[in-house]
Amino acid sequence: METIDLMLTRRSVKAGDLIEPGPSAEDLDRIVRAAIRVPDHGKLTPWRIQVLHKPGQARLGDFLADLFARHNPDAREKQIEFERQRPQRAPVLLVVTARPVIPHKIPEMEQLLSGGAVCTSILLATQALGYRAQWLTEWPAYRAEVVAFLGHNPESDNVLGFFYLGSAAQAPDERPRPAIADVVSEWAGPA
Ligand SMILES: Cc1cc2nc3c(=O)[nH]c(=O)nc-3n(C[C@H](O)[C@H](O)[C@H](O)COP(=O)(O)O)c2cc1C
Repeated sequence: METIDLMLTRRSVKAGDLIEPGPSAEDLDRIVRAAIRVPDHGKLTPWRIQVLHKPGQARLGDFLADLFARHNPDAREKQIEFERQRPQRAPVLLVVTARPVIPHKIPEMEQLLSGGAVCTSILLATQALGYRAQWLTEWPAYRAEVVAFLGHNPESDNVLGFFYLGSAAQAPDERPRPAIADVVSEWAGPA
């Protein structure tokens, strides 16, 4: 498929609908190599990618279940189990974190944008190799305990996304997109 056609047809598949096979080791290597080849002002590499196969997903799931239960003492067992399964929904889970270099002459926003580019590249590279993915944050991305459990510094680092990777049993439906005229305009000087 031409690159432009891939970009024009990219679609997420819900994490819970992703099935085996997940990316092979070789394909995963290609996905992350493609993903880190992004514009990065100042060559700061202000982002990290962690790969969680089933053992890591289970460890994270146990942590989320405990955290959820601690903060929701009235939670039912079914809800706690849901949290345990949350990071285990797809064959492979990638966690992308931003680790901005601060203070630095390159603004933090530019460093975060570079991280966002890593994220989008993961989606495109994954689909380019015939797999599917979904970019989710959900509540765990915004909990300092989770950031620390993953080995990052909650004071400075942020989870940009959890990337669920696998295969889709069936192609997803199209999703409405904004009309070009609503988001693109020509500017030739002040009105
Ligand atoms: C930073 C970021 C976080 C997201 N987090 C969630 C989320 O927590 N839950 C959710 O349902 N969709 C989330 N999404 C949206 C999905 O990844 C996806 O874009 C959406 O389902 C639309 O599908 P599409 O990628 O085919 O356009 C997030 C998107 C971005 C960019």
